[in-house]
Amino acid sequence: MKNEAKLTSTRADVPDRGLVWLNGQFMDFAAARVSVEDRGFQFGDGIYETIRVYDGTPFAIEQHIERLSRSAAAIELELPMSGEEFVTIAQELIARSGLKEAEVYIQVTRGAAPRLHPFPIGVSPTVVMTVRPVRPIPRRFRERGIVVKTFPDERWARCDIKTICLLPNVLAVERARRAGADEALFVRDGLVTEGTSSNVFIVHRGEVVTPPADHRILAGVTRGLVLEIARGCGYQTDEREIPLSDLKAASEVFITSTVKEVLAVVRVDDAVIGNGEPGDVFRRLYDVYRSQLPGRRRAPGSESVEESR
Ligand SMILES: Cc1ncc(COP(=O)(O)O)c(C=O)c1O
Repeated sequence: MKNEAKLTSTRADVPDRGLVWLNGQFMDFAAARVSVEDRGFQFGDGIYETIRVYDGTPFAIEQHIERLSRSAAAIELELPMSGEEFVTIAQELIARSGLKEAEVYIQVTRGAAPRLHPFPIGVSPTVVMTVRPVRPIPRRFRERGIVVKTFPDERWARCDIKTICLLPNVLAVERARRAGADEALFVRDGLVTEGTSSNVFIVHRGEVVTPPADHRILAGVTRGLVLEIARGCGYQTDEREIPLSDLKAASEVFITSTVKEVLAVVRVDDAVIGNGEPGDVFRRLYDVYRSQLPGRRRAPGSESVEESR
């Protein structure tokens, strides 16, 4: 597995093609600077969103900005701009970058102030938006599915907030990768919650099931869209707890996220899922998902590449 393409590896030596908007100014990545006293850097005191851009159009941006507002409210951070302003700036960033297949990343922190735990007074939030080319999904993931490894969910009790405090997620996905898997799934009290940067679904007796969107998971935008698509396709759906044993015995498993879209899971730890290949329900849902994306409608997998990053 060592030399095969990985989903999330990064290479520091690859120069960034992309653009940054930082506190009101457009600039290159190399020019963008945030204070060492920024509370995002000091405390992880911030929130974020990742939005996929297809053919120059940000996909489901309203849902992402709505979730950003919910995350801000949950950490008592007053956003310095309206939702419409976030959308306008994101669109201008994309247009200026000239990128068509891209990711927009938005991060808002409680700003820069001398390092004391309580909220600083009279400090403006730091707002950064970046756009960069989309991280390619290895073709084998699309065609053959991915392998996941489970880990105890050691995160805090408010996983519904999209905060930048991602250390447990970082550790779990790194350990999964070292063990030859492509994503880590968290398990809390015997129940599967979600992936390190994805939601999880199973197909159980023909029903499409995903854990409920409570404080234990992030209510993924893609998760919501896939649930709607599943209902539209006539599948029974349910949002209920999934014991680890049900995950391993499922006829199909798949994960969803903005960047990964929908990926079939063919092995969970040592358990082979179904016949070890992406299943029919996954294929159907992913086909419909692709057909709803902005711009040209290409066959699934045609934009993925077999390369690392
Ligand atoms: C923990 C977690 N769960 C789920 C998701 C999927 O959310 P979305 O579909 O909105 O990208 C993400 C995305 O980054 C995530 O970090």
